Amino acid sequence: MTAPGPDTDPEALRRRAEAALRRARERTRTLTTCVDEHDLTAQHSPLMSPLVWDLAHIGNQEEQWLLRAVAGQEALRPEIDSVYDAFEHPRAERPSLPLLPPAEARGYVADVRGRVLDVLTRIPLRGGPLVDAAFAFGMIAQHEQQHDETMLITHQLRRGPAALTAPPPPPPETADGAPLPAEVLVPGGPFTMGTSTEPWALDNERPAHRRVVPAFFIDTAPVTAGAYARFIEDGGYERRRWWTEAGWGHIREHGLSAPLFWRREGGQWLRRRFGVTEPVRPEEPVVHVSWYEADAYARWAGRRLPTEAEWEKAARHDPAGDRSRRYPWGDADPTPDHANLGQRHLRPAPAGSYPRGASPLGVRQLIGDVWEWTASDFLPYPGFRAFPYREYSQVFFGDAYKVLRGGSFAVDPVACRGTFRNWDLPIRRQIFSGFRTARDARPGEA
Ligand code: AVJ
Ligand code: FE
Repeated sequence: MTAPGPDTDPEALRRRAEAALRRARERTRTLTTCVDEHDLTAQHSPLMSPLVWDLAHIGNQEEQWLLRAVAGQEALRPEIDSVYDAFEHPRAERPSLPLLPPAEARGYVADVRGRVLDVLTRIPLRGGPLVDAAFAFGMIAQHEQQHDETMLITHQLRRGPAALTAPPPPPPETADGAPLPAEVLVPGGPFTMGTSTEPWALDNERPAHRRVVPAFFIDTAPVTAGAYARFIEDGGYERRRWWTEAGWGHIREHGLSAPLFWRREGGQWLRRRFGVTEPVRPEEPVVHVSWYEADAYARWAGRRLPTEAEWEKAARHDPAGDRSRRYPWGDADPTPDHANLGQRHLRPAPAGSYPRGASPLGVRQLIGDVWEWTASDFLPYPGFRAFPYREYSQVFFGDAYKVLRGGSFAVDPVACRGTFRNWDLPIRRQIFSGFRTARDARPGEA
């Protein structure tokens, strides 16, 4: 049980909300107890907050929305709100704030959670948009899980020995032995993008609306590290022609020549992953590339990034029944057989894994493994309304941010679905970002 389906009853939603909150806290606990106090309060990268800031920010958001906004309670510690306001303080300056020390932060988030579970048992789940379908509880579970992914990024940037371990993803099934086709044709025509019925969908996923998407081909699986290494070895980072002007300026200025965490040694590509150095595995989806790098690779390959609408059509459209699914495999919540989600494995699974997670047309690994860069800017859908706060989505709309889709191995199922939208600056690559490519269908091919 993860995210609620469109027609679940209030008591089921209450249980789902409680389960989602508890699962998020379990993950938060792991991420904030596997290192010592020094590592919790240190800044491991100017791109990230100290882990102990994320921890208390999680509790502070939970307090503001579930205890104050939903239950009408007084602030527990009004003086700390501004310290944990992400808009008042950019990440680089958070280490110098008067942060709650680890023990106090743990006490604060536990105090908030105890009160929240009490509110959740007795509040009626109808009577306004925050409480209907337990929306605010689902939103806060998603918020905590988003920060759990952020904290996992901090762990990846941290120097020093490994603190987290996880089993590798299961080997891909090769049942019929037939190789997968490189690309899949998605027929042209309208489909329904976004949602008006998913109870815990966030404001930027709403409302459902029709989009016409001409026929196109999309990669069956994400671009692999092996394919990306061929781009590098073909001089990809030295040829101006593959790059946008901004992308070329960026890689020149910063001397970039490979994905983040990669280095070349003795004719071999190595990478650092959660404190362990290992050879780059050619069969794994490439991860830690910027939008500029994804875009340049696609041009080198004679292709392009899919638009956001193309990505969602590939993930949700069922050509047999003009209806958009919640996930590529249907409407059922994700299980470990469908997708690599939830930090169960701390790496993407080999390209072509998860046949049970395939879309009706056979596209694989759209959900989980790596966030996928799309060609599209982060823009509101027609009829968008900011809810419940402008700072979640609205202030980021425009051409500065590119949309990523599908979620990574670090994302919990509660914060991942066919309509879920993530966004970041085109230079960013500390995130678990990869991509797949697409092309227009030529006349006669569709
Ligand atoms: C949706 C991942 C871009 O981390 O900035 C967390 C999520 N918003 N707290 C971010 C978020 C407020 C957001 N992203
Ligand atoms: Fe936040």
